[in-house]
Amino acid sequence: MRSIAFINQKGGVGKTTSTANVGACLAALGKKVLLIDLDPQANLSIHFGVNVQGKDSSVYHLMCGKKKASEVLIKTSVSGLDIIPSDIDLASAEVELVNTVGRETIVKFYIEEMLDMYDYVLIDCPPSLGLLTLNALTVANEIFIPLQTEFFALQGVSKLLQTFDVIKKRLNSKLEITGIIPCMYDSRTKLGQAVLDKIKEYFEDKVFATNIRKNIKLSESTSHGMPITEYAPESNGALDYQALTKEIIAQEEKYLKGAA
Ligand SMILES: Nc1ncnc2c1ncn2[C@@H]1O[C@H](COP(=O)(O)OP(=O)(O)O)[C@@H](O)[C@H]1O
Ligand SMILES: [Mg+2]
Repeated sequence: MRSIAFINQKGGVGKTTSTANVGACLAALGKKVLLIDLDPQANLSIHFGVNVQGKDSSVYHLMCGKKKASEVLIKTSVSGLDIIPSDIDLASAEVELVNTVGRETIVKFYIEEMLDMYDYVLIDCPPSLGLLTLNALTVANEIFIPLQTEFFALQGVSKLLQTFDVIKKRLNSKLEITGIIPCMYDSRTKLGQAVLDKIKEYFEDKVFATNIRKNIKLSESTSHGMPITEYAPESNGALDYQALTKEIIAQEEKYLKGAA
């Protein structure tokens, strides 16, 4: 089982789009996938047409101990793809859990028993490095960082890396950054290429070879409540996320070889 958190404290860089579509592509290849929505905006849940607003049945209610993991788990329309959804109630978790012992590992505590049912657990993080992201980084053993290939792509990255170092030292020694995803890439501009070069200079071979190109179908698919592979299977967005998913699976052969 691989557990991967998609993090970047910047909003609008492609975290949710990547979590949703990598998840759907993995499931299409026969993998069992669990998605966890840890953003109070619930964009990942909405991406699969899942709305638990007002139903007291989101990851927040799991964190408060009011619901069991099996009670908040929802099967999406994609076969093999399940989701633990979020709702806006999650926005108060940070404050409400401030005196709770072990609050950084509370999600892990409640979902641990179901993890071995899955091949992949993918976690969508909010645009901050607060309690919810800390929870993601204690469930996950891997971090993928989506970066928008725009001028400010690397701004804030050193803060993110500092946070990673602290979590690895204090909370989760297994945690590794295993992938950088260049998102919203525009090959027609010099800037896109220049930023991509900078990203590769900084993160070297951690950067996936696949760039997710700018593709309007990706943003359209969200509002239709389906992944790109169902909404527009022939689009560049679908092709790019399929190529990225193949790379993600290929990482496993590399690790296995490394371990042998
Ligand atoms: N490759 C892309 N091309 C075009 N639009 C995209 C692409 N990736 C994401 N978007 C859109 O950009 C916005 C931000 O993406 P999102 O994945 O929600 O970012 P984050 O989760 O990091 O805030 C969304 O409206 C999404 O539909
Ligand atoms: Mg998001």
